[in-house]
Amino acid sequence: MTDAVEAQASLEAQLKDEIVRMYQEVADNPDAEFHFFHGREAAELFEYRPEWLDEAPPGAVESFAGVGNPHERANLQAGETVLDLGSGAGLDPIIASRSVGPTGKVIGIDLNPAMCLKAQAHAATTGTSMECHEGRMEDIPLPDASVDVVISNGVINLSFRKRRVIEEMFRVLKPGGRISITDIVSAKQLSQSIVNDPKLWAS
Ligand SMILES: C[S@@+](CC[C@H](N)C(=O)[O-])C[C@H]1O[C@@H](n2cnc3c(N)ncnc32)[C@H](O)[C@@H]1O
Repeated sequence: MTDAVEAQASLEAQLKDEIVRMYQEVADNPDAEFHFFHGREAAELFEYRPEWLDEAPPGAVESFAGVGNPHERANLQAGETVLDLGSGAGLDPIIASRSVGPTGKVIGIDLNPAMCLKAQAHAATTGTSMECHEGRMEDIPLPDASVDVVISNGVINLSFRKRRVIEEMFRVLKPGGRISITDIVSAKQLSQSIVNDPKLWAS
């Protein structure tokens, strides 16, 4: 490994630890102070419909940490298979499950296995179901051409390898499939001090 590759691998490992720590904290202590919007306040700001939030388990709503509303343009249809990258505590998969109905399927991917367990438990209390796979969006643990729609909410900005994430999304999409993601984009080049700080990158 060259020094640059080694430095990147080390930063990526630190970033992963920080991501796991931070979003686990949102899931375990949603009432704590965070410097980003989360919970029902954030979901309302992003125009999630009140009935979605009223019908979802409170734990999934309180721990919501998205940055927008990927459902608005996803146009999900009954019977479709949906993949949610970085499914967190499960609010987005639960909402997607309502749209695709019992003949459809919702699959979450999260690098933190504890989040997967939480999301599946939340989904089970609503009578909807989701599969959640521990894994990384840079190496999606699904076969080629296996999903109709990819959604994601506030996760791709966390990756060191965004091009790879996009390639993976296209690999798992069926021909004619759709992508509906909400995320954070900076119009300015970020300073190296931000890029090299896992705490800032993770949030
Ligand atoms: C910003 S939260 C968003 C969660 C969910 N989409 C929501 O709106 O509440 C980030 C979630 O993505 C997961 N995550 C971060 N990086 C990931 C990666 N490279 N692959 C898979 N999941 C990842 C984290 O573990 C965390 O649960």
